[in-house]
Order: sequence, then structure tokens, then C-alpha cells
Amino acid sequence: MSKETLTVTDNRTGRQYEIPLTHGNIRTMDLRQIKEDAEDFGVMGYDPAFLNTASCQSNITFIDGDKGILRYRGYPIEELAENCTFLEVAYLLLNKELPTAAQLQEWVDLVKHHTMIHESTKTFLEGFRYDSHPMSMLISSVAALSTIYHDARNIADPIVRRRNVVRLIGKMPTIAAYAYRHSLGYPYVYPDNDLSYTENFMNMLWRMVEPKYVANPILARALDILFILHADHEQNCSTNVMRSVGSSQADPFVSTAAAAAALSGPLHGGANEEVLRMLDEIGTRDNVRAFVDKVKAGHGKLMGFGHRVYKNYDPRARIIKWTAEQVFQVTGKNPKLEIALELEKIALDDEYFVKRKLYPNVDFYSGIIYQAMGFDPAMFTVLFAIPRTVGWLAQWEELIADPEQKIARPRQVYLGQGERHFVPMEKRAAQRVSA
Ligand code: ACO
Repeated sequence: MSKETLTVTDNRTGRQYEIPLTHGNIRTMDLRQIKEDAEDFGVMGYDPAFLNTASCQSNITFIDGDKGILRYRGYPIEELAENCTFLEVAYLLLNKELPTAAQLQEWVDLVKHHTMIHESTKTFLEGFRYDSHPMSMLISSVAALSTIYHDARNIADPIVRRRNVVRLIGKMPTIAAYAYRHSLGYPYVYPDNDLSYTENFMNMLWRMVEPKYVANPILARALDILFILHADHEQNCSTNVMRSVGSSQADPFVSTAAAAAALSGPLHGGANEEVLRMLDEIGTRDNVRAFVDKVKAGHGKLMGFGHRVYKNYDPRARIIKWTAEQVFQVTGKNPKLEIALELEKIALDDEYFVKRKLYPNVDFYSGIIYQAMGFDPAMFTVLFAIPRTVGWLAQWEELIADPEQKIARPRQVYLGQGERHFVPMEKRAAQRVSA
């Protein structure tokens, strides 16, 4: 019978330590007993970008990056995308199980009852400059919800927690649409609760003078699928922020705003907007080879390529490609698709990308679909933030209920000056200061 332990030898002292393995992993705190002498602090793990550090135990999302597998609560993403609505998947992520028809109806009604935003949030949006980025407006407005829902600070009460979870899921599309309309100078459109989650979002974005907005059902379904694909992705950069801020017991509105801020960066959710900029820069199919050579020479990155976890095809990118075909049947092909396909073909054949296991990620094709549907590139990351809010909140609820979780507070390896004493100004020599 094999033992579920590791034996570590400290070659400085010759001492041996037996460290337990739980689910195949060590607890890094068990390394602290390894000391050179009694004064020593003990060994820590140094892992600046969490390359090999699990920050929590979770039951929500499973990814096998080498095999290209993504599952929510055990269900393959392909099956959920094919068979579910976004709100059904949201229910699954938050409640661990798929809903029955009655449970789904109740859940959809509940979310719809929270789609309106307080009129003061509208006034708040009015204060932004006409050319503000919608993602920046979204981040700030979500944080501002905390000024309205004071009960949200009571994170210890599961009923209050869930009430504010539903508020966020209901209001996210409204804030996003209002931010978009503000940037165009259009009047805001109030939510229409006769419509589905995505149809209502499209209504708030695009309704003009018609008495009732009717979304194209293929486009509304495509958006629903895209929302399902973006709903959660275990411990990514923004979810880590959600958990980290949430661990200080901050309320869910400011925690979600912080997570959205992390998402906005070009290496994370902001990549979808950058992909479109890159395709614009490339301009035509003939320029693709030269662009790839430039990237290989160290000038920039192929945006929408590469992933920390997927070292095989991103399963979401495959579903997105299929969804793109449905959308283009309605909208006509986005001319950028030709450039993207050529880019993918050249990159997947090139030793630089093959060796580094760089494949298209979820952001590579999503922007092309969004643009064909009529979204401005500045809205792309907002479209990511709306569904990811569900994942952030499911992870946040899991964090709050986890008795092992404490305030997130990493250690550092200090490499700065040892102790030195104050020097009066007149005795200081000028030192070269580097950034
Ligand atoms: N284009 C060109 N080279 C790349 C790319 C890329 N998109 N991504 C990684 N590389 C190279 C790196 O330069 C590095 O090369 P080296 O070993 O010669 O130094 C190697 O591949 C490994 O890359 P890392 O940066 O170590 O990979 P990491 O896991 O830290 O980063 C990330 C992952 C941030 C996604 C990265 O691949 C990237 O910047 N991609 C482009 C931005 C993007 O599409 N982000 C969206 C990710 S999906 C999401 O967040 C929703």
C-alpha cells in the first residue's frame, strides 16, 4: 500500500520531513516546519503568478487544460451550450444542480424583478464624460450600487447574500446597456420583463422608436450561448480578485467591481477588444504572415492566443466558431473572419506557436461575432463581464461558506535593504533612482 505523503530532505541540515498529501497536493504551510535553525522563519513556496499554487478548494468548475475539457458542476460545456439557457446555467453554478421547469421559472422571474436600477445610478452615469469607456463606466457603476444597497455589507447572512447576488445578475445588463447608450448620447431604455435575459439586454441596447423591440432569435440565442461560455472559468485572474477582495468581507458590489477591473486588462477579458484592433492593424489576409513574423521577433503578441491553463484547444473557442457560422447566416460574414482564419492557420502550423502550445482562446473569435452582431469593440469586455458576474458570485458564495478561508494575504520574499539608519538631508549624497 503506497503512502499519501512526500518525504523531503533538507540538505542544509540532513533532516527529513514527512509531508502529507491531500488529493495529491501538499499544504505549503507544512513547509514552514523545515528550518535551518530555531531562528529561521521556515521554508515558503515562491510562486509570483500562482503558476502552481491552488488558492482554494472548489466544487464549481473543472478544467483539464491538456485535454481541453471544461465542465460546470460536472456538466461538459458543450452539453450546456447546446441545451441550456444562460439563466439555467447561472442557476446551476449558484445552486449546484440544474433546475426543474418550476425552479427555472421561479428563478427567471426573480432575476427579472431585479433588472431595474435605482434612478440615482442613472444620474451617476450621467456624470461620466460622453467618450468614457463602457467598461470603466460599468466598473464604477457596479461599485456605486454599494451606496444604495446597504444590507450588502451583511455578508454573514445567506439570505442577504443571495438577495444581492440576484440584484447583481439582474442589474448587470441594465448598467452595461445604459453605459453604452450614454456613450452614444441616446436616452436609456428601461428593462422589458416580457423578454428573455439576452433579448432584454438587446432591447435596452438597441431599441429606438419602435414600441416593442423584437430581437432576431438566432442572434439572441448566439448571445445566450456566448454568455454560457463566459459564465465561469475557475480561478482566473478576475475570480482570484473576487475571492481576494471578498476574503476581507467587503460587500459583493465592490468585490464584483474589483473583479471587473481585473477582467478589463488586455491580457484577460480585454483581449477580445484587442483582437479586433490587431485584425484592423493587419488589414488584409496577405499581411498575416508578416504580422506573425513580427510577433515571433518579439514585437507584440498574437492577441486571443495562448492561455495559462489550456495547452490544447480552448473548448470554448470551438463552440464559438460554430456559433459564428449561425450568426453570419443572419448578418453576413464579418470580413475580419478571413484574416482571423488565415492567422489561426499560419500560427497553428508554426513551430513558435506549436512549441509554446499557443492556441486560439475564447477571445479570438468572440469579438468577430460581437462586431457582426452590431456591438462596438469598446463593449466587448462588458459582454464578457455580464455573464462572468455569475461565476464571480458563485465563487464568492463558496468562499464565504468555506470554513477554511481566511483573509487572503500572501507572503513575500524580501530582497531589499537590511536595517540602516536615518541620514540628515545635508549629509545625503545624490543617488541614481531607478523605477
Ligand atoms: N503571442 C505570442 N507569444 C505568446 C503569446 C501570444 N499571444 N502568449 C504567450 N506567448 C509566449 C510568451 O512570450 C512566452 O514565450 P517564451 O517562453 O519565449 O518567453 C510563452 O509563450 C509562454 O507565455 P507566458 O506569458 O509565460 O504564458 P502565461 O500563461 O503567463 O500567459 C496569457 C497566458 C496571458 C493568456 C498569454 O498567452 C497572453 O498574453 N495571450 C494574449 C492575450 C490574450 O489573448 N488573453 C486572453 C486570455 S483568455 C482570458 O483571459 C479570457
